[in-house]
Amino acid sequence: MPLLIRNADLITADSRSRADLYVEDETITRIGQHLDAPPGTEIIDATGKLVFPGFIDPHVHLYLPFMSTFAKDTHETGSIAALVGGTTTYIEMCCPNRHNDALEGYHLWKSKAQGASACDFSFHMAVTRFEEQTEGQLREIVKDGIASFKIFLAYKNFFGVDDDEMYQTLRLAKQLGVIVTAHCENAELVGRLQASLLAEGKTGPEWHEPSRPESVEAEGTHRFATFLENTGAAGYVVHLSCEGALQAAIAAKRRGTRLWVESVLPHFLLDRTYAERPGVEGMKHVMSPPLRDKRHQRLLWDALAAGLIDTVGTDHCPFDTAQKLLGAEAFTQIPNGIPGIEERVNLLYTYGVKRGTLDLHRFVDAASTKAAKLFGLFPRKGTIAVGSDADLVIYDPDYRGVVSAKTQHTNCDYSGFEGFELEGRPSVVTVRGKVQVRDGVFVGERGRGRLLRREATY
Ligand code: URP
Ligand code: ZN
Ligand code: ZN
Repeated sequence: MPLLIRNADLITADSRSRADLYVEDETITRIGQHLDAPPGTEIIDATGKLVFPGFIDPHVHLYLPFMSTFAKDTHETGSIAALVGGTTTYIEMCCPNRHNDALEGYHLWKSKAQGASACDFSFHMAVTRFEEQTEGQLREIVKDGIASFKIFLAYKNFFGVDDDEMYQTLRLAKQLGVIVTAHCENAELVGRLQASLLAEGKTGPEWHEPSRPESVEAEGTHRFATFLENTGAAGYVVHLSCEGALQAAIAAKRRGTRLWVESVLPHFLLDRTYAERPGVEGMKHVMSPPLRDKRHQRLLWDALAAGLIDTVGTDHCPFDTAQKLLGAEAFTQIPNGIPGIEERVNLLYTYGVKRGTLDLHRFVDAASTKAAKLFGLFPRKGTIAVGSDADLVIYDPDYRGVVSAKTQHTNCDYSGFEGFELEGRPSVVTVRGKVQVRDGVFVGERGRGRLLRREATY
């Protein structure tokens, strides 16, 4: 059914205008004044609301075997949570580990998402070892429309690659025109620091941060940038959390390295005291890189406002209370990750735009447009234009609420952001012209999401 949105206050990364917007066959076909519509058209009056392009989360984990367990969401639950929160596309980390076959892993991840996700999706393909058949397999995966890789400099012997494997991955990425995303922490140092803390009887979640200090992330970031410079590949640092790593990334950008930066929701709003809470409450806030000292948050917000941090993702990775308790005896066994796919847009709007830190257009850019551009989805996604997919968020800036595990759609029994105030939420969310959400309720079609083909452009 065609859709007409009347009186829309259209906000993109670089423009604001008032117009009507007409959608046919999944696509925006007209933007203009006083548009007419044939009988049978669904009409939504957007007076008093803001209309944004569908938001894009460039870093999520839904299907994830990790740390002796599995992340709790499926693509069904995770995509509904995403949509309720205004995210209409996500890019999942496809993470077969070092002992798995990459191509088999890719097909497995695809099978988990297809027919299950209610919103559109793609993958960053993790390269967790590099051997004879890897190049051929990666070429095949890129041909299938996956235009980005993922490497981990952390998680030795599981996801982690050594420097030679990083080099080979980046060299191939350069040949293929693919961007490489990277988790930047020094695996050797993390392993040594973990072992010495445990040997001193320091087993609680409060020791997770000291086992992966700022310098460990700064080194990983600097090393990744150095390898980019020497291979000519394009790169993207994921979940950058602290000043030292930010300085390393900014210095590389200034040297002309093709490097972009993502920070994730927890690092803007939560600090290390959350992981220092007694018992399982602390464990619920264990992720890597870890939650840092509060002083880093101001630096991240400022860098985001200035465009030095390019995107905001979530690193959504839900493990429930029972799973977190796997680490009751040793912080090194706590499954790493905090959910956030549902809260990202609303918390960024509330604590960024409403608190005056983030310009409305930079907000759209960081939460949607920039990821679309970096990962080969623009202008199909990430903007409001004739010809773009009709992924739209009609946003109610007058909504007031509070984050609560009781009302969330994510399949997890806690929220890392419990009690955070919300000043705004999506009123209507469409995916390719179909209304999927109304006022916090999923009203759409499950399994409607498509795997998005992305071209290699670097
Ligand atoms: O703690 C985290 N970030 N868990 C998910 C895996 C990763 O490193 O992205
Ligand atoms: Zn990571
Ligand atoms: Zn991650």
